[in-house]
Amino acid sequence: MTPRIETMEERDVDAVVAIDGASEQSAGWDAATVRAELGRAWARLWVSRDESGPGSPAAFLVTWLVQDELHVLNIATRPDERRRGHARALLAHGLDFARAHGVRHVLLEVRRSNAGAIELYRRLGFVAMGVRARYYPNDEDAVEMLLRLDPQTGAVVPGPDEVTL
Ligand SMILES: CC(C)(COP(=O)(O)OP(=O)(O)OC[C@H]1O[C@@H](n2cnc3c(N)ncnc32)[C@H](O)[C@@H]1OP(=O)(O)O)[C@@H](O)C(=O)NCCC(=O)NCCS
Repeated sequence: MTPRIETMEERDVDAVVAIDGASEQSAGWDAATVRAELGRAWARLWVSRDESGPGSPAAFLVTWLVQDELHVLNIATRPDERRRGHARALLAHGLDFARAHGVRHVLLEVRRSNAGAIELYRRLGFVAMGVRARYYPNDEDAVEMLLRLDPQTGAVVPGPDEVTL
């Protein structure tokens, strides 16, 4: 199975809402929210499709390009498609996009309890930069994670965590 990464389109909206809704970390996105993101000039949205499947998205990634930063707003994989490399492929694609646009910092927030996502991000080179106490509606802490890109070479700049998780 090779994930196929494509730019998200209007025809993907219902599937993306369903994937977000099936996530234990659901952002509660409805179709209007996804369409609003599709319409923002500074947003970049991708889906991952299983090459052997019918083409319905298995996962999605929503980011904002803000000057030399790329912000990860939402990423999720359909529960039955997890651990098949969709999220890794989406983020790798996002990092290639970031390099091509001179991005220096890729930023995201993740629930402290979300060990799977934190492992995914760490493997790509993200480090924990800070903790926002009781950031989420259930009072859970957010971990702020950062990936630094060398603007000259595009290489990931390694670094230590700045907070202990
Ligand atoms: C986190 C999430 C997006 C990962 O998606 P995925 O497509 O299953 O991830 P991948 O298959 O690309 O995983 C790549 C690597 O990340 C790490 N990883 C992913 N999920 C993991 C888990 N549950 N536990 C431990 N490591 C995990 C592993 O290193 C994995 O490589 P491996 O399978 O070769 O060991 C998915 O579990 C999900 O949708 N969760 C709910 C939504 C969510 O938490 N989003 C993040 C909000 S910040």
